[in-house]
Amino acid sequence: MTIGKLIDGKAFAAGLREQVAEGVADFVAAQGRKPGLAVVLVGEDPASAVYVRNKGKMTVEAGMESFEYKRPASIKAEDLLDLIEELNGDPRVDGILVQLPLPKHIDEQAVIAAIDPAKDVDGFHVVNSGRLAVGLPALVPCTPLGCLMLLKDELGDLSGLEAVVVGRSNIVGKPMAQLLLAESCTVTVAHSRTRDLASVVHRGDIVVAAVGRPEMIKGEWIKPGATVIDVGINRVPGEEPGKTKIVGDVATSEAISHVRAITPVPGGVGPMTIAVLLRNTLVAACMRAGLAAPEGL
Ligand code: GUN
Repeated sequence: MTIGKLIDGKAFAAGLREQVAEGVADFVAAQGRKPGLAVVLVGEDPASAVYVRNKGKMTVEAGMESFEYKRPASIKAEDLLDLIEELNGDPRVDGILVQLPLPKHIDEQAVIAAIDPAKDVDGFHVVNSGRLAVGLPALVPCTPLGCLMLLKDELGDLSGLEAVVVGRSNIVGKPMAQLLLAESCTVTVAHSRTRDLASVVHRGDIVVAAVGRPEMIKGEWIKPGATVIDVGINRVPGEEPGKTKIVGDVATSEAISHVRAITPVPGGVGPMTIAVLLRNTLVAACMRAGLAAPEGL
């Protein structure tokens, strides 16, 4: 039995953050100011608070300015929209990220639509998703772009490969499909209503799993030699009573003997998201300053 390779997303992300830091130093030398990222956190969700703290720390480590705005879950939609308007007009701010999900009384799409597309480092604005869809330069959502970087690093040219994306969210599934199509893959998007998911997944030379269901994709579903990117982060009961652990959307211990390579959870895609966010912030800063995007990023 051959054993597939575990893709080290943590190491790749560290390398990308270093490259971004070099690009940031060039930007500061040319512009006399640091690129700035504003992160808006609404409410008290502990997982979101941890993400936001990590984002702030890594932004500063990359040599950029970090602005954090914490607002109570009870904030009125109009007050949140006013904050975004203020950040749109703030010349120190190159990137705006509003942490999702937002409280139920706030219309997420309206908030995303209020962000200046040139500062939309999440790539969630319809202007950026539209630009991605028609093949124009765009700010691209961080997690799928990170997945694509790992795939290209592992496989090189993706042209002509069968890619199966499981999940159709605006954050991962849909932009992932667009990115793979732009790389000339034959793309299938599967989701919760897909019939015979096992045989659909089995088509994939590439499988990207982003469904949010613990270990739903079984090892035997994977075509031998496929490369698997597991975007899932699911908290489940651990081996010891009262303890929990994090697992992906793929049953990794089964899949490992089928794959060419697979991302582990944790340590695969997770660390890539923030690294690409920093990359997107630098790219947004360069575009806003009329500079060419840094090479190799
Ligand atoms: N919540 C989970 N992932 C993301 C992300 O990539 N961006 C934002 N803004 N919120 C998220």
